[in-house]
Amino acid sequence: MSARIAINLQNGDTLFYLEQLAEGTPLGNFSCPIAEYNDYLVEDSLRSQNDHVALTWLLRERTAGTIVAYMSLIADAIKLSLSEKELHGLNYPFKTLPAMKIGKLAVSEFAQKKYKGIGSYMINNALALARACNRQLFACRFITVDADIEHDEGLITFYRKNGFTENEELYNKNRKTVSMRKDIYG
Ligand SMILES: CC(C)(COP(=O)(O)OP(=O)(O)OC[C@H]1O[C@@H](n2cnc3c(N)ncnc32)[C@H](O)[C@@H]1OP(=O)(O)O)[C@@H](O)C(=O)NCCC(=O)NCCS
Repeated sequence: MSARIAINLQNGDTLFYLEQLAEGTPLGNFSCPIAEYNDYLVEDSLRSQNDHVALTWLLRERTAGTIVAYMSLIADAIKLSLSEKELHGLNYPFKTLPAMKIGKLAVSEFAQKKYKGIGSYMINNALALARACNRQLFACRFITVDADIEHDEGLITFYRKNGFTENEELYNKNRKTVSMRKDIYG
């Protein structure tokens, strides 16, 4: 197998572009290892977007236009303990802080074979969108995710490598997902 192309912020922007899902957007035959994520993209993403419950971004190769990854973003709020707030230098009397959630994130099998770092590049794109939101629209301090460990225990490692930490509260008792956060300005 030929070596995978390592993606970083510089070559990522040269090789790919982000596109917001729209009515009639061609989705090709996107396929990641988890059927649920493929089905969501084809069957539910547009409806969720039209209902304003999740907005989907596609990452396409500039050359072929192939979708290599997608993510669905949602407004969120996160409850932090006193010690967690201290950790982030957030000395406020309220527990709940504004966040943006990565509701879905998936990289295609084709892209996982060809490239290394697409998932991390998508997280960087989510960060850039959250920062733009902070500059222009409303405040949002954290990026959150419910790491889907039912499908893959390794996801905690993936998110940790991308600067996420497990939350004390909202730790899912049935262990199907683990609630994690990343400080956008930490
Ligand atoms: C999880 C996913 C998005 C990661 O994308 P990716 O492009 O393979 O990830 P990256 O190449 O950016 O990985 C960054 C680092 O995390 C590690 N990593 C990635 N996925 C991992 C996993 N499942 N388990 C353990 N480590 C993982 C990589 O080895 C890499 O480590 P390194 O920097 O030390 O080499 C992708 O595997 C995927 O789409 N999975 C199916 C859908 C899914 O589970 N989505 C998440 C739902 S919460």
